[in-house]
Amino acid sequence: MSSDLAAGRHARIGILISGRGSNMIALADAVRDERIPDAEIAIVISDQPNAAGLAKAAERGIETLVIARGGRLRADHDREIAAALGAKNIDLVCLAGYMRMLSPEFIAAYRGRILNIHPSLLPAFPGLEAQRQALEYGVKISGCTVHFVDETLDAGPIIAQRPVLIHEMDTVESLSARILAEEHKLYPEAVSAVLTQVATNA
Ligand code: GRF
Repeated sequence: MSSDLAAGRHARIGILISGRGSNMIALADAVRDERIPDAEIAIVISDQPNAAGLAKAAERGIETLVIARGGRLRADHDREIAAALGAKNIDLVCLAGYMRMLSPEFIAAYRGRILNIHPSLLPAFPGLEAQRQALEYGVKISGCTVHFVDETLDAGPIIAQRPVLIHEMDTVESLSARILAEEHKLYPEAVSAVLTQVATNA
């Protein structure tokens, strides 16, 4: 991230979504309320044209863009996303329910500047349906993790985690809802911490 962030320039955040967008909204609300200080959500990009999160972002006056995969190679799709983020001078990319792996080229272009939130205490239960995996394994505590994205699946350096106790009667739905409530608090805290660190070290 560029050193003028240290001089007080607003950090420009780009968010990638594929669906509901509740974490995206949690980040947008935290920026609005200055729980993520000195930042703005410069663009929300979805790979899914009918992602519910698009309308929620637009309602809040946030610019949205659909970049569908359209049968292209991952690298070609990601190149278009990187160009759109580049055009907006994005400092930090936040994945919020973005359901695709990113190409090595994209990760190299934004290394150390891509964050993801995952609904388990990584390294336990990476990949899809993390809440179901936790219930099926029988762990008594799960939670959520914010981590940097690298070329691995959900195994980049961990930034922050929050535990959630599993109840005897939990279903995938009930556990997912309790974890999601924690995600909405943890992700803004982690983004704020990362931006503070960058501004301090720059
Ligand atoms: C969240 O559970 C997040 O941890 C996972 O995908 C889900 C996205 O939900 N990566 P939303 O679109 O943010 O509501």
